[in-house]
Amino acid sequence: MMDCKTGLQQYFRQLAEEEPILILDRKSTPEIPETVNSNSERSEESVDDENLHKLVKLEQEVSTCTLCELSRTRHSVIFGVGNPHSRLLLIGEAPGADEDAQGIPFVGRAGKMLDKVLKDLKLERSELYIANILKCRPPGNRDPLPSEAAACLPYLLQQIELIQPDVIVALGKVAAVRLLKLSPNISVKSLRDSILEYRKRPFVVTYHPSYLLRYPGEKISVLKDMQVVLKLLSGEIKWQPGDMTKFLK
Ligand code: URA
Repeated sequence: MMDCKTGLQQYFRQLAEEEPILILDRKSTPEIPETVNSNSERSEESVDDENLHKLVKLEQEVSTCTLCELSRTRHSVIFGVGNPHSRLLLIGEAPGADEDAQGIPFVGRAGKMLDKVLKDLKLERSELYIANILKCRPPGNRDPLPSEAAACLPYLLQQIELIQPDVIVALGKVAAVRLLKLSPNISVKSLRDSILEYRKRPFVVTYHPSYLLRYPGEKISVLKDMQVVLKLLSGEIKWQPGDMTKFLK
């Protein structure tokens, strides 16, 4: 029997009125008999622990990064936050002043908006992992320069390989454009139509929380996008690499 603690499990319990069908933490797999885990030569747990160790090492490495000019003006390197075993990874743009001061992603006004969205979805921050395209604040909150994004990308790619999320969500255009190498002229609206692919994973693009501060009416669009994400995670939407699923929301 699963331990029904998380908001997400409660959410799905309400939806399905049956046993929870989704858990966000890859390590919470109580149905796997212990003997299967312990007998296997290299159990899932040891891979997870190894990845966690590597993630900690990576964070240490990144904390002294000087690959771009932002290292001269930053106060903190904002590596990422959340559950390193999560099946869900959210990727934003870059830290702002509040994040730079506190060393945590999405703690300013946009972060409060993100928290509201997560609350509506009955998700806890601790159930997912949140990172950004850039790990250091661009002065004056300007957009990341292509050279800065390129310098920082290998760190994010390593995070993705170590966390192994089942679904990646791009919060806003910068994350989508930088990861998918798209034209900066593309609109988030057009990217929201489909489940895209990034590194063999489903990749969903939605509006950035700071866009919602300007256009609060679009929160419903983000909630709809996140419903698709939750359905991907629960298996209700089947997806395989190579699928270009169109979604009319
Ligand atoms: N905006 C982002 O994209 N990321 C943060 O961490 C904060 C604001």
